[in-house]
Parts: sequence; C-alpha cells; structure tokens
Amino acid sequence: MSTFTLKHVVESQQFDRELLTIVFKTADRMKADLAGDRRFRTFLNDKIMASLFYEPSTRTRFSFESAMRRLGGSVITTENAREFSSAAKGESLSDSTKIMCGYADVIVMRHNEAGSASKAADISSIPIINAGDGAGQHPTQALLDVYTIADAFPDMSGLKIAMVGDLRYGRTVRSLSYLLSKYNDMEITFVSPPVCRMEHDIKAYLDKYDVAWYEETDLARVAKEADCIYMTRIQKERFHSVDDYLEAASKYILSAELVSGMKSDAIIMHPLPRVDEIPEEVDNVPQARYFEQAQNGLYIRMALLYLLLKGE
Ligand code: CP
Repeated sequence: MSTFTLKHVVESQQFDRELLTIVFKTADRMKADLAGDRRFRTFLNDKIMASLFYEPSTRTRFSFESAMRRLGGSVITTENAREFSSAAKGESLSDSTKIMCGYADVIVMRHNEAGSASKAADISSIPIINAGDGAGQHPTQALLDVYTIADAFPDMSGLKIAMVGDLRYGRTVRSLSYLLSKYNDMEITFVSPPVCRMEHDIKAYLDKYDVAWYEETDLARVAKEADCIYMTRIQKERFHSVDDYLEAASKYILSAELVSGMKSDAIIMHPLPRVDEIPEEVDNVPQARYFEQAQNGLYIRMALLYLLLKGE
C-alpha cells in the first residue's frame, strides 16, 4: 500500500505515483473481473453509497452508481440534491454531510462550489469522493483520463498533451494538469479563447514541478504535433457574461480535416458531454477515445470504492 492513506478523494494532488499504480492495477482487475468470473460482485455487499449531486451529471453519477452495484453494494440517492434534498430549505452542506454519515459508508458528492468536497471531508467520518466541485476539481475524471492515456502510451513519459476549450472554468483540465505533473517530461499546450485561458494557479503549479507548458491559439498547428488532444466543452452555465460566452463558443472545433493532420498514433479525448467541439463524424476515426474514456470511468470508480471501503 502507498505511504499515502486513501481516506477521501478530494483533489488530484493527493495521488502519488505509487497510489496511482495501485488505483490503475485495481481498475485493471475490475475490468477483467467484469469480463470474467465476477468474483468481486459481492465484495461491498454490506456497504451503502450515498450519491449527492447538486449539479447535473450523466457519466459520473451513473458510473459511480453502477460501480457500487457491480461490487454488490447499495446506493441511496436523490434526483437533484439542490432541489430535492433539504438544501432547498436552507440546510448547510456541513449539516447534510454530518447527517449522511449516519446513513451511508461513503458519499459521492458533486457540488457547484469549488472547495465544497474538501470542506465536507474535513467534517466527515466516512470517505468523501469529489465528483466535481464547481470550477474547482474533478479528480476521479483525471484518474480515468490518465488511465486512458496510459493505455495508449504505457511509458507515460515525454508526451505532448494539448488541452483545448474552456480551460478557465474546466475542472477536468485543472485536475488532469495536476496529475500529469506526476509523470516525466510531459509537455502541456493550452489552446483556448482569451476569455477562458488556464488560471495562474495551475501554471504556477506546473512551473513548480518543472512541467513545460505553452499557450497557443492555432489548433491546426498543435494538432499536428500532439500525442493527445483533450477537447472540452465551453461551459455556458459558468460564464458571468453572455458576451464572454459568445466570444468563446464554437471557437475551437476539432474537425475531420484537422484530425486528418494528426499523428496516426495520437489520441483524441473529451470528458463529455460535448456540444459542437468534436463533430460526430470524428467518432469513428482510430484516434477517437472519448467513449472508451467514459467506459474506463466505471473501472476506475469500482477501484476507488473498493480501495476506500475495503482498504486493500
Ligand atoms: N465527465 C463528466 O463529469 O460527465 P458528467 O457531467 O456527465 O458526469
């Protein structure tokens, strides 16, 4: 076991290389188990997972709920915690967390405020998993992202990664940047409209860990050299100004023509959902990995629940 104890999952920085290896090997076991004899299907049969989502989700919520059920556990949930939990009556996140600790063994939480998962973890007696906190972080997404990149490039070194789109409000690219800094000789290129450039805290972190990063505007040029292009949606719901949103919307689209200029062994990723930044005609090119990436979320989340609740 890593020297780091996996008590909560709140931010990408908490994972060291040893713990990443443990998570990825456990995810491999989960993937093999689902395709094989299903030995894991009763491993968490005495455990309950509460999924508390204050923001919409398809992949994260359903993959966590599927993961828990595939391990034999139970799930308690609400359709929309902002509307159907006592948050609608003014209950604080802190009070809700304390109450849920008595009902469940693990809480998977998506919240609209950055830092909320960390605050919940501070007062929680059971593991908290950050399923996305506003424009803060989405660490389980970053884990499945790196798992997907490592599947294509097992050495995980010397890779050119391009992050494209909404880098200012995008919690996935923030969490992924933190995780990539754990690997050697990574080069990250940020491609975004001026109104949603990557924030300075991430750039300062990359500098601190000697990760080379660049900012570019020409996606066609970046696409030719990248090993991985990580596209993201412009998140309309997080913009404070309609004009800023309109300036950013539909600016960067990875068209089939741009894809034809990519390296043959490069990969295209996207945390999804998408709007128009990857046209559907790109889905069938060999470089497209975003549906496989979403599927990997199931294995990673099974691994996390298993490690958090069984501690093995
Ligand atoms: N990638 C991701 O977080 O998707 P959802 O918002 O559908 O959970």
